[in-house]
Amino acid sequence: MIEWSNKYSVGVSAMDEEHKGFIGTINKVIVARQCDYSQEEVEEVLSELVKFAKEHFKNEETYMSKFEYPDYLLHYNEHLNFSLHMIIYNNQVINGEYKIMDELYKYLQEWLVHHIQKTDKKYTKCFNKNGLR
Ligand SMILES: [Fe+2]
Repeated sequence: MIEWSNKYSVGVSAMDEEHKGFIGTINKVIVARQCDYSQEEVEEVLSELVKFAKEHFKNEETYMSKFEYPDYLLHYNEHLNFSLHMIIYNNQVINGEYKIMDELYKYLQEWLVHHIQKTDKKYTKCFNKNGLR
């Protein structure tokens, strides 16, 4: 299980709260892959991730655009890539290939390390400077 720690903080409490929810979903994946999970469980996790992506990315993007964040496009592309991955996983599951938890775990883990801990942290200075903490 992944526990929230300061190393995941992007220095903006509202975004940290949303990232905590994301980690909660990764933990569901971790638990599920330890047992013989059902298609419904995968569908549930995927719909949580789609909801997270839709709401959370929109929030980050709204701030980035409002604060004229210079790396907006690069960041936006990474978000788009995540959403596309969720569509691909969803299609697989709909077609009955639902044993994807290992692959999904790997992807989410990578997202945590490469997006949240790297790409997201780059906006800290800009967001803080604009009064968002
Ligand atoms: Fe992001």
